[in-house]
Amino acid sequence: MEKKTYTAIVLAAGKGQRMNSAVEKQFLLLRNKPIVLYSLLRFQESAVIDDIILVTDAAWIDYCRETMVEAQQLTKVTKIIAGGRQRYDSVYAALRAMGDTDYVMIHDAARPLLAQESLLLLRDTVEEHAACALGVPAKDTIKRIDDAGFIVETPVRESLWNIQTPQVFATNLIQEAYELLQTMDKTDITDDTMVVERTLGTRTKLVFGGYQNIKITTPEDMKTAEMLFDSVW
Ligand code: CTP
Ligand code: MG
Repeated sequence: MEKKTYTAIVLAAGKGQRMNSAVEKQFLLLRNKPIVLYSLLRFQESAVIDDIILVTDAAWIDYCRETMVEAQQLTKVTKIIAGGRQRYDSVYAALRAMGDTDYVMIHDAARPLLAQESLLLLRDTVEEHAACALGVPAKDTIKRIDDAGFIVETPVRESLWNIQTPQVFATNLIQEAYELLQTMDKTDITDDTMVVERTLGTRTKLVFGGYQNIKITTPEDMKTAEMLFDSVW
């Protein structure tokens, strides 16, 4: 079978409000490297990935080009573009900047502990199902609460997963979904599987990522990432 082409979109345009740090969290240092660099290195070294689009704040574009893409010879990074206000705006900007490719892997720069094997699993899955993502079974019991903080419902834990990235889609599917999204209410959209679900009704296949593939969100996550680091790098 002919090899399909894959573009990785690395999302690094967020403000990191919950981290509450002086610089945006994706540029904090983890073992001496900016967090975003780990995602770029992972995709650069992967035989699955053909090219990479990095999305960041306009103010960080030169820094990323000079200190990461050029200094580390990240030859697959073909574009560094400015993101938007919300995560879905940043994804849309990347989808519009993208060249011809069969599949798109959308990844949070805030997840530096992605395992190399996960990319192979995602490739095999997306070529069968057109939409897939990494996730892990929820460890905690999850409650739905009301505005006053009282529990109103307890979904069965066995049916609950924490969703991660990469989230991977056939290119025409994700581009069509994001075009449709521009005409719709975007309230509460936090990931790409929600976009294909809401716009086209497409079902996304979840596959096991790994409990180490955390999203660095609040300050204590830096310590957790430090502890988990050696399991993937
Ligand atoms: N992201 C982005 N553009 C945005 C918002 C988020 O590229 N407008 C990226 C972030 O940089 C991060 C990923 O999407 O790598 C996941 O988002 P999240 O963890 O929510 O990061 P932030 O939005 O930066 O953090 P917070 O929500 O705490 O402000
Ligand atoms: Mg956010």
